[in-house]
Amino acid sequence: MILPSVIKTCFTGVMLSMLVGCSSGSSSVTATSTGEEIYVQNCAACHSGGFKGWMTGAPEVGDKMAWKPLIAKGVDAMTTFSIKGVNKMPAKGGCKTCSDEQIKATVEYMAEQSK
Ligand code: HEC
Repeated sequence: MILPSVIKTCFTGVMLSMLVGCSSGSSSVTATSTGEEIYVQNCAACHSGGFKGWMTGAPEVGDKMAWKPLIAKGVDAMTTFSIKGVNKMPAKGGCKTCSDEQIKATVEYMAEQSK
């Protein structure tokens, strides 16, 4: 059952749900979307710094210090967390149409930008 966990994630805090919203499912990701495209459409809201990043505590892409310990864990470990969700990060970053492979490609893109 994926739905209850999504709802739980979205309502972790009234403030958070208001700021982050649960509307990322409306993205236009297709089977051919690249990691970079998926990042821009689904992940940048939290992972490019700014207010949402600060609110959620998402590691900012390009912040080498933040990504060093993550990159050290390896892409596979990061991908597993990204698919399942971790703390304030919803499963697959809210991208319901993203395949596991696409999430992996997106994680690789984000890590590459943050080395
Ligand atoms: C709603 C905000 C939000 C969105 C959208 C989001 N993330 Fe995150 N992400 C987070 C937060 C917060 C963390 C830090 C979680 C923690 O460790 O506390 C995180 C952590 C991560 C990590 C590190 C996981 C680890 O191994 O600890 C990766 C990789 C990641 N996100 C990838 C993605 C990808 C790929 C997407 C888009 C498909 C995405 N995120 C979308 C909030 C978000």
